[in-house]
Amino acid sequence: MTSPALDSFAPGTGAAGCGPAAGPESTDIRAPLGLLDLFGDPFVRDPYPWLDRLRSESPVHHDPATGLWLVSRHQDVRRVLLDPERFHPDNAQHAVTPLPVAVLRVLARVGFTLPPALANNGTLSHSGLRRVVTRFFNAQRVAAAVPVIERIADELLDGVRSQLDSTDGCDLFTSFAQVLPCRVLMEVLGIQGVEPATLIRWSDASLELFWGRPPLERQLELAELVAEFHQWLTVTVRSGTVPSSSFIGALARHRLPDGTSLDAETAVAACFFVFIAGQSTTGQLIATVLRRALDEPGRWPRVAGAAGLAEAWVEEVLRREPPVTTWRRVTPQATRLGGVGLPAGAQLLLMLMGSGSDPEVFPRPERMCPNRANIRHHLAFGVGRHRCPGASLARTEAAVALRAAARRLPDIRPAAGTGEPPILGLLSFRAPSMVAVERA
Ligand code: HEM
Repeated sequence: MTSPALDSFAPGTGAAGCGPAAGPESTDIRAPLGLLDLFGDPFVRDPYPWLDRLRSESPVHHDPATGLWLVSRHQDVRRVLLDPERFHPDNAQHAVTPLPVAVLRVLARVGFTLPPALANNGTLSHSGLRRVVTRFFNAQRVAAAVPVIERIADELLDGVRSQLDSTDGCDLFTSFAQVLPCRVLMEVLGIQGVEPATLIRWSDASLELFWGRPPLERQLELAELVAEFHQWLTVTVRSGTVPSSSFIGALARHRLPDGTSLDAETAVAACFFVFIAGQSTTGQLIATVLRRALDEPGRWPRVAGAAGLAEAWVEEVLRREPPVTTWRRVTPQATRLGGVGLPAGAQLLLMLMGSGSDPEVFPRPERMCPNRANIRHHLAFGVGRHRCPGASLARTEAAVALRAAARRLPDIRPAAGTGEPPILGLLSFRAPSMVAVERA
């Protein structure tokens, strides 16, 4: 993929302020789409050429390796998300790599189960449970959280600053991007009795076990961590000692459509999803936001000062390189999509990331243009009944993190000689797992 000079732009999209093409130097790929490996290094490092080909050659594509139907055009992804009758969310949290008996045994030991609660809930209980979540993340709550986010960001950046001053180098992912959302979530939801580092370890293990392709030995290690997490949640939910103002307290007060209270398994399933979704994804977003701003010449000093630029930069990263790259749905009955017949039980993989680079919606999608007219038309947070209720918090955290880092660390640049950073490449989650910087 080339990067044409940006001297003209499609009407209504704005041209000034656009950067060069973002992301890896894309290469033209000629391999048959049948050879696509969603977990392989070539796709994880540079998914764009594959996503472009899927969109133009086979927009509803059966992937023989995973059995999933890959849906890549913006309009088809949107159509699926807005039609919960034809496309159910039940498979949202299924393990993409089957869990062997030995792994299931580790989970069964703690009574691990994920009954329908939020993302995987197509039943009548969904809207009420969703309201419990949205009350914690509505506009007032997010506005009230800004000083908390700024305080925690400042504390973490104190540590980064002293590390840079003493050693000249630092990894902004582990020391900042990953920790900030976890600590913010713990304050916003009133999560107590666990260290942030433990919550991060449990959360990352859950993502890798359910959305990764780990070998058996690794699956067993991950299952131990996931079992620990589930057990801690079960004990905490059942203890009845959490503050009533906390998220778990709100779940305890919640009544289902038939007037009964929530069973412990469903309350644990709701926490399991929110405690993961509320931090890992935002940490991944912040990592990409920082990395791309540091990579683009002249961008870093500008985001610290220019009003609204940090917010717009975050939005462009969400469009072009979102942390949640795909999401799943399943067809209860045979149906058609984009001219393709789908059988009952078809597992759909909605390519959210590819949809953000659909040139039908975003002209010159490879350019990072913080002033695009339709900057928010991406599907990084989904749309419709299950749209991410944490979107506003995630956007705010990422913008605060970027502005604070650029202000406090004006003298940094990507560390020389470290090459391409390691990338987390799971079915639905992708981000650099290291943002190495040094003093300029
Ligand atoms: C950059 C960060 C984030 C991204 C990209 C993201 C993305 C998504 C996506 C794609 C979905 C599925 C939408 C659908 O099925 O239509 C989702 C659902 C969800 N997200 Fe997020 N999310 C992020 C941060 C958060 C945060 C901070 C929270 C905080 C609680 C959160 C909580 C949830 C919940 C509870 C759902 C399920 C909603 C439902 O089924 O009604 N997410 N998110």
